[in-house]
Amino acid sequence: MQGFGDATIVVFGGAGFIGSNFIRKVLAEHPNARVVCLDALTYAGSRENLAGLSPKRLTFIKGDIADRAVVSRVFKKHRPSYVINFAAETHVDRSIHEGAEAFVRTNALGTSILLGEARKLSGLKKFVQVSTDEVYGALPLDSKKKFTENSPLAPTSPYAASKAAGDLIARSFFATYRLPVVITRCSNNYGPYQHPEKLIPYSVMRLGQGKGVTLYGDGLNVRDWIHVDDHNDALVLALLSGKPGEIYNIGANDEVSNLDLAKRLVKSFARGDEAISFAKDRPGHDRRYAIDSSKARRELGWKPRHTFKRSFAPTIAWFQGHEGWMKRMQKRAGAINTHIV
Ligand SMILES: NC(=O)c1ccc[n+]([C@@H]2O[C@H](COP(=O)([O-])OP(=O)(O)OC[C@H]3O[C@@H](n4cnc5c(N)ncnc54)[C@H](O)[C@@H]3O)[C@@H](O)[C@H]2O)c1
Repeated sequence: MQGFGDATIVVFGGAGFIGSNFIRKVLAEHPNARVVCLDALTYAGSRENLAGLSPKRLTFIKGDIADRAVVSRVFKKHRPSYVINFAAETHVDRSIHEGAEAFVRTNALGTSILLGEARKLSGLKKFVQVSTDEVYGALPLDSKKKFTENSPLAPTSPYAASKAAGDLIARSFFATYRLPVVITRCSNNYGPYQHPEKLIPYSVMRLGQGKGVTLYGDGLNVRDWIHVDDHNDALVLALLSGKPGEIYNIGANDEVSNLDLAKRLVKSFARGDEAISFAKDRPGHDRRYAIDSSKARRELGWKPRHTFKRSFAPTIAWFQGHEGWMKRMQKRAGAINTHIV
């Protein structure tokens, strides 16, 4: 694989879960690359997620992607060859219970500001917009269908709708201005540094406190899981060899129902199924996500190296070994937390 050489990569939203893992990977695997990370450090982002990385290779800037002046300054100063955007409001429950505005502001308006400023860069090789399979909406439980890049956009939550808006704006910048945009749509990630408001770390925290896991509805909703490291391998390839104007689905074919996941979780704490309870379903709760990633495998030469079966226990162990980090992230997140999967 060709590498980044001594290129500068600007990473937006790199202090969150996937972005911080991405930066660690790039700095470890591409020894001459430089990374500039701009992140607003919302409740979901933390400098702690980037601790220990050399300031010689990583420049951190606190800033908002919806602030055009800041984005313009970063681009003018650092003149990146590659740009990747992870910055987003990401919590579906917050988008339902707290309103869509913050989601639209960052995920749609912020993305359009990045794209507009990126147009002024000379020598930009690629702009990767990191998106989600949730833009496709849901599949029925009883079908074998998977989302392809040609599936219609049919988001059901305000989060997913705001991400779909960002995708469409990104696409239009390729069609209109030939900005070298690539969009990636990935399934549910798991791995180190995932914010404790999300299903797996949240459940680890609850079980560690002797509490149980509560599932929405009947718990039979299915999610397609992928290890964050596999997602980031695909993102590196999308930056290096993704074709401008294309969309790549990323998924590891690891479909697990929420109930099966809860059973694995309680078992790893030596608890029985009585530690699992059920609550009223989430409004618009998507039944099943499943993603066909054959295009990324074929055209980017990507394949996942983790399986949920093997990488689940090390992920749980990581959270158990980072209790202090979990508590600090949880505290910053304030009142609204996911109590229910
Ligand atoms: N987590 C998943 O399972 C998953 C799956 C598919 C796609 N994605 C996408 O990947 C990206 C990263 O997700 P994540 O799980 O790491 O999210 P996260 O919530 O852990 O991190 C988001 C980061 O964006 C930053 N941010 C938020 N608003 C900002 C703004 N206005 N300006 C600058 N920075 C801002 C936050 O401070 C945080 O560091 C998102 O775009 C998300 O839609 C996530």
